[in-house]
Amino acid sequence: PELVKMDAVYTTVRNAKMQPVAYDAFVKMAEAASEDGFRLYSVSAYRSYQTQKRLYQTYVATDGKELAESYSARPGYSEHQTGLSVDINTADFYSNFQNTDTYRWLRENSWKYGFILRYPEGKEQITGYQFEPWHYRYVGVEIAQVCEEQGLTYEEYLARQVPPQTDFLQNVSIPISEQLLWLNHQWYAPC
Ligand code: DAL
Ligand code: ZN
Repeated sequence: PELVKMDAVYTTVRNAKMQPVAYDAFVKMAEAASEDGFRLYSVSAYRSYQTQKRLYQTYVATDGKELAESYSARPGYSEHQTGLSVDINTADFYSNFQNTDTYRWLRENSWKYGFILRYPEGKEQITGYQFEPWHYRYVGVEIAQVCEEQGLTYEEYLARQVPPQTDFLQNVSIPISEQLLWLNHQWYAPC
């Protein structure tokens, strides 16, 4: 993706990057949080395929594949590779970020800047990942507001999107192996 370097004020990582649209929104959100007395900074934003591969392999080596895959995406499948996601202030389960006032601020306000909590508590079966109180994804204010108001994960939001005109399929019977899935505004072939 197109990337911009994050200012050192907003990250602990040297050479941290995000997509411009997400970074602009992150800066606005961090400024608003700061006015309310909270500091927001990234500990992990854009990751290359290679970086994700290294992380994933380290976690698999430490925790085994099954546990590792409950919190780490395979290389090629991490939202961090889009430059739209950001881990805020921490990225470890032991810090109990969900018990902080900063987390509460984010839960109340992140949607106003287009960010959603991507892997919420209680939605593990839907997202496929453990609760990550620090991981936010930029989806734009419009979608973030819908997710917030309706209590939807991004998966649930996408599943509710209406496919383009499909009348022409009405009387055609298609074997399931040839049916397409409408997801994320694109048609996908089954795998
Ligand atoms: N921790 C998230 C799921 C990732 O690896 O992208
Ligand atoms: Zn993350």
